Amino acid sequence: MKKDLVVLGAQWGDEGKGKVVDLLSKDFSAVVRYQGGSNAGHTVVVKGQKFVLHLLPTGMLHEHTRGIVAQGMVLDLELLVKEIEELEARGLKVMERLYISDRAHLVLPYHKVLDSLFERKGKIGTTLRGIGPSYMFKYGRKGIRVCDLEDRDRTYRLIKENIEFVKDLCEKIYCENHSLSAEEIFEKLLENYQKIKDRVVDATRFLLGFERNVLFEGAQGTLLDVDMGTYPYVTSSNASALGLSNGTGLPPKYFSNAHFWAVSKAYTTRVGEGPFPTELENELGELLRQKGGEYGATTGRPRRCGWLDLVALKHAVDINGLDGLILTKLDVLDHFEEVKVCVAYEVEGKVIDHFPASLSWLEKAKPVYKTFKGWTKSTKGARSIEELPQEAIEYLEFIQEYLKVPIVMLSTGPEREEYFWFERVYAKAGG
Ligand code: IMP
Repeated sequence: MKKDLVVLGAQWGDEGKGKVVDLLSKDFSAVVRYQGGSNAGHTVVVKGQKFVLHLLPTGMLHEHTRGIVAQGMVLDLELLVKEIEELEARGLKVMERLYISDRAHLVLPYHKVLDSLFERKGKIGTTLRGIGPSYMFKYGRKGIRVCDLEDRDRTYRLIKENIEFVKDLCEKIYCENHSLSAEEIFEKLLENYQKIKDRVVDATRFLLGFERNVLFEGAQGTLLDVDMGTYPYVTSSNASALGLSNGTGLPPKYFSNAHFWAVSKAYTTRVGEGPFPTELENELGELLRQKGGEYGATTGRPRRCGWLDLVALKHAVDINGLDGLILTKLDVLDHFEEVKVCVAYEVEGKVIDHFPASLSWLEKAKPVYKTFKGWTKSTKGARSIEELPQEAIEYLEFIQEYLKVPIVMLSTGPEREEYFWFERVYAKAGG
């Protein structure tokens, strides 16, 4: 029977999904990205060579996989073409294995103008890749889709109308002038479209007819989901399992046999603004940043760092219906005398054990911690549970007992080979 796998981010993105998906996709015939756009930065290290993918599914680094860019994504064609060309220049054939949805929306230069304008007016800390405005245009019914590009007159008219709208907004409301040229944007767009047009398909039909196993690769993370995350400090798509059906055009029933796994770091990070109850704004946070190399793959921004937040993680387990958790970067905690996890929040004197919707609650939430003795031994590159110090095993066992979900895999370093299946604890949790 067909057995698909969904791999999501369980936190605020940057959990190490790139490496995990790369690792897992060797067993799949197709890999799908279905939400977000070039705001994602999925890093994989193969034989010392570093790859950072923003738009292509990470699993395409394996030459036997087909890569599907599904309808829920917003595509900057210039960056997509650049990414394909860069991989091909490094000897990896991707074009012939790529399938781009005709229903995907485009990110155009005027979306980036709006992204930076909105950031100046009220900071979310976006990646400035035009993602939010592109989804605004999509839901405001002003978007341009890949399928529109076959009709040049229509595309040109839409670009012109959208530019007029953006210019009016910038000039009349925000008193800013922008030199956006419909002709230039149109020409450049068509030039890039010519390079990928043969790869454009009805991706939903393609997937419905595809009988082999498929891996669905989430971008960003559950806590950045536009509905279930820390709104308004979120991305503009459904980065949780909620995004699967509308992001692919596949019926919810399609996923009933699929396995749902999510990736979490052994601690927590976030980039951009917004609540982060376990953030450490002290030397411990700095140590996590240094040891974990916590700088954004897309923007290079230093990431905010803190202890593992099990309340937030339980939210991810529940709303994604997770069957398993993949934990990354345990080795970063090797350097700590004490390791803490947040097991509840205290909000105005009340203890709560669920992740609240309210931003003001989240901003006031004080973490209630459980403290573990640190293991202060190296776990880097460990290949079996026997190689882990007892204190680290206790830490991991507590996590899965709290979450009631098995840890299925532990990633112990950036290289493809640095991981192991976590069978002993998995079996213990009844998974
Ligand atoms: P946007 O997706 O560029 O609109 O940014 C909205 C929020 O999501 C900001 O806080 C970004 O830092 C965050 N974000 C977007 N993409 C990623 C990602 O791939 N990893 C981590 N954070 C992200």
